Amino acid sequence: MHLDLKFPEHWDDIGSGQLQSAIARLGESLEQQVGQVAATEDEEELFSDLFDREYGFFWTIYSKVRAKNGRVTWADGGVRHFLRAPVQRILTLGLLSGDPSKYFISLRRYLESFVNNTMDVESFTLARALWESRAEGIKSAIGDSWLKKAPPELRPEIGRQYNEFVKFVDKYLKLRFSVIESGAEQSAFARDRIDLSLPGVHRPIGSHHLIRQVFQEIEDIFVSIGFSVVEGPEIETPYYNFEALNIPEFHPVRDDMDTFYLELPKGAKTPLLLRTHTSPMQIRTMEKQKPPVRVIVPGKVYRRDNPDATHSFAFHQIEGLAVDTDITFCDFTGTIEYFVRQFFGASVKTRFRPSYFPFTEPSIEFDVSCPFCGGTGNSNGGTCSKCKGAAWIELFGAGMVDPAVYGFVNYDAKKVSGFAFGIGIDRLAMLKYGIDDIQVFFQNDVRFLRQFP
Ligand code: DAH
Repeated sequence: MHLDLKFPEHWDDIGSGQLQSAIARLGESLEQQVGQVAATEDEEELFSDLFDREYGFFWTIYSKVRAKNGRVTWADGGVRHFLRAPVQRILTLGLLSGDPSKYFISLRRYLESFVNNTMDVESFTLARALWESRAEGIKSAIGDSWLKKAPPELRPEIGRQYNEFVKFVDKYLKLRFSVIESGAEQSAFARDRIDLSLPGVHRPIGSHHLIRQVFQEIEDIFVSIGFSVVEGPEIETPYYNFEALNIPEFHPVRDDMDTFYLELPKGAKTPLLLRTHTSPMQIRTMEKQKPPVRVIVPGKVYRRDNPDATHSFAFHQIEGLAVDTDITFCDFTGTIEYFVRQFFGASVKTRFRPSYFPFTEPSIEFDVSCPFCGGTGNSNGGTCSKCKGAAWIELFGAGMVDPAVYGFVNYDAKKVSGFAFGIGIDRLAMLKYGIDDIQVFFQNDVRFLRQFP
C-alpha cells in the first residue's frame, strides 16, 4: 500500500511560524489514512514509506523543518500524531483480533524501522519519547489498551510478552544510543550518502593485447583455408621439445634453444623444461591423429635470452603443420604465399632461401618483399628503416616435414608428406605496427596498450 500523503504546496515557502500547523495537518491526515490500512502484509511497506531515511515521509519533513532552523520535538502535537499513527493502528488491530499478543511483532517492526533511522541525538530523543512518554508513549499505551482490556484468561500470557517486549526495546534503544553517541553512524551515513550529481563510476573496457590481436588475425587466415587451432603445454619434456623433432641430445641446435628447466624432486622420471618453440605440438598432434592433419598452434615459448630490443625470455609463435598422402612443395609455397598476402597485402612478393632445421627437409627461410618501402629499400628519400635497405624482410622458418619425424609418431614416411612452419609473432607484430622494442609487449604500460584498442 502507498500512502497518499503530500506536502502542502509551496511547503518550502512556509514561514517558520506556520510550520507547526503544517506538520499538524500532515499528522492528522496520516492518522486517518493509516487507520484505514488493515492488512498486516502492508506493514513493512508502510513503515518504509514513513521512516526510511532520506526517502521516508517523516524524515523529509524532519529535515525540511530543521533546515528552517526549526526544531522537531515530541512536544509538538503534529509530530506526536505522526509518530503515533502506526502505533494506534496496531493497537486497535490487536484489540479487534481478540488476541493482541501476536501484534507485538508489528510493534517491534515499527519501532525498529524508526529507531534504525535516527542518526543524531535530536532524532533519537524522539524515538525515546515515542517509546517512554507517560502520556502517549507506546509502553504505557500497550498497558492501557491491551493489558487492561484483555480477557482475563489471556492476561497472564500478554503480561509475559509485554515484559519481554519492554526489555527488548529498552536494550535496543540503549544500543542505538551508544552508536549515535560515538558518532559512528553519522559519519558512516555521510560517507555512504550518494551524490546523484556526480558522474558515475566509469569502468574502462579493456581490449585484447596486440599480440592476441595478431594471433587472431593469423588464426582467421588459416582457419579460412581449413586449418584448425590447437594449443599445447608450455611445460614440456625434452622428448617432445627436442628428441622427437629429430634433435638428439648433443645436437648443436640445442645451444640456440637453451631454456629454463624446472626443479623437480629427486627421482623424477624425466626433466621438464619450458618449451623453446611450439614445434612439440607437431608431435603431440600426430601422435593423437591420423593424416590428414592441418593445424596451427599459437602459444608462448621461452628461451634463455637476455632481454634487449629484439630478445625476450618469453615470446610467441604460431606453428603450422599440414600432413597428408599427397602434399607437395607447391601446396606448401601456395599456402604460405596466400597467408603472407592476406596478412601484408596483395602486392608483396615472396622468396625462399635454403636453410636448416632438424625436423624439416628441405628447410627454407621465407622472406617477403618489404611491405613498407614497396620492396625498394628506400623510403622518404632515405634508407627504409624497416628492412634497413635490404628490400626484403626475413619472415619465418619452414620446410617439408623430415621423414625421420614420422618415425616418432608411427606415420608411414613412404605414404605421407607434409610441411611445417614456425612464425615468430612478436617480430611480425613489431614489423606490421612499427614497434621497435619487443619489451613493450611485456611491460603492459597502458599508454602502449591503448594504442591498439
Ligand atoms: N621451431 C623453430 C624455431 O623456433 C621454427 C620452425 C622452423 C618451425 C621450421 C617449423 C619449421 O615448423 O618447419 O626456431
